[in-house]
Amino acid sequence: MKVIAIQLLSLFLLFVSGTVIPNPDKRNKSAELRLVSLSKTFESDFEIGAAVSNEKLSDPTTHKIVERHFSSITAENAMKPIMLLRKNGTYNWQAADKLVAFAKKNKMKVRGHTLLWHKQTPDWFFKDNKGKDLNKTQLYLKQYSHMKAVMEHFDSVDVWDVVNEAVSNQYNSDFIYRKKGSQWFKICGQQFVSKAFEMAHAISPKKKLFYNDYGLLSKHKQDKVFRLLKGLVDKGVPIHGIGIQAHWNIYNKAEDVEILIQRFASLGLDIHITELDVSVFKGNDQSKHRNYVFTKKDQTKQAEFYSDIFKIFRKYKDHISSVSFWGVRDNESWLNQHPVNGRRNYPLLFDDQGMPKESFYAIIQSTK
Ligand code: GLA
Repeated sequence: MKVIAIQLLSLFLLFVSGTVIPNPDKRNKSAELRLVSLSKTFESDFEIGAAVSNEKLSDPTTHKIVERHFSSITAENAMKPIMLLRKNGTYNWQAADKLVAFAKKNKMKVRGHTLLWHKQTPDWFFKDNKGKDLNKTQLYLKQYSHMKAVMEHFDSVDVWDVVNEAVSNQYNSDFIYRKKGSQWFKICGQQFVSKAFEMAHAISPKKKLFYNDYGLLSKHKQDKVFRLLKGLVDKGVPIHGIGIQAHWNIYNKAEDVEILIQRFASLGLDIHITELDVSVFKGNDQSKHRNYVFTKKDQTKQAEFYSDIFKIFRKYKDHISSVSFWGVRDNESWLNQHPVNGRRNYPLLFDDQGMPKESFYAIIQSTK
């Protein structure tokens, strides 16, 4: 009855003054949204961040969401070696500088991502002028000068993912390090990880230095990363934190997330959740799912998972200082191209139009 009365009043007002009263459901959500900010909701717990690019920020809707809801940003690509390095030895700072300026204007932190990675580093980085493979000493020197240039240029960045994804995913071996596709391993052997942390610390002793990786809910990979980091900590290598990428899905279990956090917290490392998204498909599902629609059931499943993991994050807030999403709006997510190009996914907190999803409200609600 009340709803019909509001709708009639709304129609009447529309005729007489052009004013529309939104329907009660939407009205509540938009009123709530005017007051709510993700980062403010968690401000006494941890930073809330998002990976962004200048292109994505040039969309006014994404721009507004980022300004309102995030207290930290990560450059989605702009600080990776392939984007910064020019073959003639000079640097292209433009895109990353623009992101840092955006963060500064909005008093946001910037996570530096990433100094050393087997991907998104140009092939020529590992070769000399004549195209011959560098030897270990030459490669360490080159990496040192790259890290020095980058860390000094982005002096306002306090946290760096020093090494990204150095650990192997292979189930048939307990060997820790990724061999396949890694020029680092090929040229320097396994010591390149500790060397990178030592170099970063020598360049900028005050910066927080992180190891960042994915697949950590798999017990096998988790064990390897744990062994790697425990080894570094025991040897006194200057490492301060682990970046848990957190590319998860609605079939993962929140209990496993808690075990993962407890385990790395036991090493005394600071924990950052660095690339959070919650896919609607299982990790190993590579089918196209052409007719998939984001069902109500999956929306709820995703919202429950987000709510559960945020409760866990808050429970361990003394160990977790930052939680970042890998993107802002569903239509912009990398998961629409990966692992199946063109397969729609819905992993983030804001829908294609930039409206907060059930998962967004579930996270806010999880604090109540
Ligand atoms: C990894 C990297 C990120 C990004 C994502 C996918 O997790 O650490 O920089 O490339 O893959 O977009």
